[in-house]
Amino acid sequence: MLLLTQLVAIAALAFISLKHEAIAQFVPPYSSVVVPVYKHTDAAKPLYSVQIMTTYVNMQFLHANFLIDLDAPFIWHDCILVWNTFAGSCPANTLCTYPVSCEEYQCTDVRTTYSYKNPSCPPVNNGSTLPGWGYCTCPVNVVNPITGSCDNALLDYDEFTVNTSNGRNVFNGLYGAYPNAACAPSSSFQSFPVNVSGVMALSSSPYAFPAYLNEPLERIMALCLPSTLSSPGVFFYGNSSYYLLPQSNVDIRSFLSYTPLINHPDSFGYFIGLNSIVIKTRSIDIPGNATTKLSTVDPYTTLRSDIYKWVVRRFSLVTKRIPPANPIAPFGLCFNASVNGLRVPDIEFNLQDGKKWSIATANSIKQVTTDVACLGFVDGGATSEPAIVIGTFQLEDNFLVFDLENSSFGFSSSLLRKKTSCANFNFTLTN
Ligand SMILES: *[C@@H]1O[C@H](CO)[C@@H](O)[C@H](O)[C@H]1NC(C)=O
Ligand SMILES: *[C@@H]1O[C@H](CO)[C@@H](O)[C@H](O)[C@H]1NC(C)=O
Ligand SMILES: *[C@@H]1O[C@H](CO)[C@@H](O)[C@H](O)[C@H]1NC(C)=O
Ligand SMILES: *[C@@H]1O[C@H](CO)[C@@H](O)[C@H](O)[C@H]1NC(C)=O
Ligand SMILES: *[C@@H]1O[C@H](CO)[C@@H](O)[C@H](O)[C@H]1NC(C)=O
Ligand SMILES: *[C@@H]1O[C@H](CO)[C@@H](O)[C@H](O)[C@H]1NC(C)=O
Ligand SMILES: *[C@@H]1O[C@H](CO)[C@@H](O)[C@H](O)[C@H]1NC(C)=O
Ligand SMILES: *[C@@H]1O[C@H](CO)[C@@H](O)[C@H](O)[C@H]1NC(C)=O
Repeated sequence: MLLLTQLVAIAALAFISLKHEAIAQFVPPYSSVVVPVYKHTDAAKPLYSVQIMTTYVNMQFLHANFLIDLDAPFIWHDCILVWNTFAGSCPANTLCTYPVSCEEYQCTDVRTTYSYKNPSCPPVNNGSTLPGWGYCTCPVNVVNPITGSCDNALLDYDEFTVNTSNGRNVFNGLYGAYPNAACAPSSSFQSFPVNVSGVMALSSSPYAFPAYLNEPLERIMALCLPSTLSSPGVFFYGNSSYYLLPQSNVDIRSFLSYTPLINHPDSFGYFIGLNSIVIKTRSIDIPGNATTKLSTVDPYTTLRSDIYKWVVRRFSLVTKRIPPANPIAPFGLCFNASVNGLRVPDIEFNLQDGKKWSIATANSIKQVTTDVACLGFVDGGATSEPAIVIGTFQLEDNFLVFDLENSSFGFSSSLLRKKTSCANFNFTLTN
């Protein structure tokens, strides 16, 4: 068994160096990289992580879970900086990475242009020099996506390894990415779910993960958040077909509709154009000043009060045969769900280009207690900006594609209607 692991590891390392030395001649056996996505319910809100391989120690890769964040400007995680890794200076059970010095261009670049934009963060100064190294380190501010508090991290040279795929299976070859990320102390992750020790920036920032996934991978990111804790959802990067069991011959791309991704100044996140919300043929127009953002850290879709009011009014009208229940915060419209199987109409998001994103009952009605279920949308307040934030309860079991090459966003609507789910990727390794 040890020998087998060893051989796999050697093959894997050979694979990584091959990729770097011979890009031009190299026709990869894979079209994408694939990463499992876990749902966590032990923090203040449901959150999702990607599992990646960090370092190779004692003949095996260490795995770590990083919170999925579509907005974060760069990656940060629980690690420490060590400049002389060969001197055995990395303590046991600690992840060590190489520092970026305050004199390198990345330090200025991240601090001035690609930092977290939060007025509550204090200005950063250069860090102290590491013993024996002689350079100052590069502290940067990070904002905790759970508590919103500001923390300090140190910029590093990092190394992440992920598995390769053809969209159907996991291959035996590995892919290495070498981002500049940042190390934060373990204490920064106390509010995080158990076993989640970092933030994976999936934004359009040049310091986010996608920017470090290069040739031969095409710039297409796919994300499928699971609704269950029992098996993982899936993340892909690359121009790939996608297959979910039990339909082993249906490319998920055939289910997708596309709408343009909209650039938003001051944000590295992803925005789409939502023109109206349609509930049982009646259309609620979205004011032209309302922007719509996609979020993996907001649990429910948040609507600015003027929009929320109309959605709730319309939804309560079309569900007036269902006995109501007193609202349970943060929701404003709830039902007595002691009768099994609430039947409610779909909520349709009418997007730019006339595409329709259907929000099925599984994504609109949240079971809160055994006999109360609520409309899973929340009031963001009169001045909330962005006016609409599409949250994770609405995204679960929807296959999402961020085509960064074409700047378009693909969505499947509920996969449950297609008799599959985000938790149905076959993660079994093939040889
Ligand atoms: C990558 O594949 C290997 C072999 O199947 C597996 O042991 C490992 O957990 C996978 N890593 C991730 C992050 O999925
Ligand atoms: C940090 O050090 C670099 C290199 O010495 C210098 O250019 C930069 O101005 C310093 N930044 C701060 C915030 O002190
Ligand atoms: C955390 O990770 C450890 C080691 O991989 C595992 O044994 C444990 O079950 C995990 N805990 C949770 C809550 O996922
Ligand atoms: C992805 O592949 C499809 C079909 O093979 C092709 O039409 C499309 O242009 C490719 N997209 C990119 C960004 O390469
Ligand atoms: C946006 O439009 C709504 C409705 O037209 C208006 O009430 C609101 O004041 C506007 N908000 C901003 C920030 O311009
Ligand atoms: C739901 O309806 C049942 C039957 O009418 C009633 O006994 C129960 O108290 C109601 N529950 C709530 C939360 O309103
Ligand atoms: C992306 O753009 C290319 C070239 O404009 C086009 O051939 C391809 O079909 C587009 N892919 C998608 C998924 O829209
Ligand atoms: C999952 O993939 C493995 C490896 O290719 C294959 O042997 C197995 O049959 C697949 N499982 C299903 C349910 O298709």
